[in-house]
Amino acid sequence: SAAEKGGYDYFMLKEIAEQPKAVADTLLGRIDASGALLLDEVRIPASVLREVDKVVIVACGTAYHAGMIAKYAIEHWTRVPCETELASEFRYRDPILDQRTLVIAISQSGETMDTLMALRHAREQGAKVLAICNTNGSTIPRESDAVLYTHAGPEVAVASTKAFLTQLVACYLVALYLGQVRGTKWGDEIVSVVHELSAIATQVEEVLETMEPVRELARSLAGKNTVLFLGRHVGYPVALEGALKLKELAYMHAEGFAAGELKHGPIALIEDDLPVVVVVPSPRGRSVLHDKIVSNIQEIRARGARTIVIAERGDEAVRPYADHLIEIPATPVLLQPLVATVPLQVFACELATARGNEVDQPRNLAKSVTVE
Ligand code: G6P
Repeated sequence: SAAEKGGYDYFMLKEIAEQPKAVADTLLGRIDASGALLLDEVRIPASVLREVDKVVIVACGTAYHAGMIAKYAIEHWTRVPCETELASEFRYRDPILDQRTLVIAISQSGETMDTLMALRHAREQGAKVLAICNTNGSTIPRESDAVLYTHAGPEVAVASTKAFLTQLVACYLVALYLGQVRGTKWGDEIVSVVHELSAIATQVEEVLETMEPVRELARSLAGKNTVLFLGRHVGYPVALEGALKLKELAYMHAEGFAAGELKHGPIALIEDDLPVVVVVPSPRGRSVLHDKIVSNIQEIRARGARTIVIAERGDEAVRPYADHLIEIPATPVLLQPLVATVPLQVFACELATARGNEVDQPRNLAKSVTVE
């Protein structure tokens, strides 16, 4: 009913709007005033976490994209090797796991069969499993050694939005906590990341307030057949997530690529007026990344692409090559997905609406896939 949707036309719009609160709720009580992580709820003893020599993240769909981003954070902040794998692939390839492996299973519903089978397999091999889950008492957290709940509240729309942002927050918390427990050198970078993570809900709110041009752009592209997405580093999974949203909702051919792979194939797809969304990392921080992607934008534009550029506010270097510029607030490099994903959700939702599709219940999809 309209009341359930809180005055929005679709649950998805309501859930997109709820993201600042979902993010804040997921952080609540988990960082103290000094910037220390308070995750006693993760019932895996510190002694065990100190012995971990490998992290493996398993998930499906949007949760898998959160896991891909987590890999960058975990390896950078803790220096523990981390792999992220689709649960359906992991389970059937005879993965190498032992007591020193920490497996993180990410699932909004806690009922996805492939993820459940992956975690059962991991536990049989003696690995410890930590679930990141949005649904209290669901199967995946019940069968795990420990759980960190995301506090997104119920997510009704099939295409995941607020659950994804809170999965990211949970992954960052776990990564920082692992670093804290293991005594990783707590450098200035980590101190400022913890600080900026606490401010991120406000920045998500800022993004939501500036989405009208994105909706307008989406409507103007309703007749297109294909949209490509490019990103580097943590922007790569963001590109994959943007493409997934567009497939799920707009039923369009949408593909995400690592921008560095352009020359190895995708650039052959570029033709006149093809919309290409590019996620640009901050020009501060690791500026090599930024410079590389600016040349990627030039390359595709020279071949006729219509460039839709998501970049940090004040990033003047991209402006000359952006047919459409979507500005997002400045964040630390690793946290950028929390703000960069939001315009892509709005974009897909508006395109679906413009194409007359059912936003909350896309054809052929289910909210939770409980068969293998
Ligand atoms: C389905 C949903 C997706 C979700 C995926 C994983 O495909 O439509 O939105 O990302 O399942 O679901 P989970 O509940 O495990 O996060």
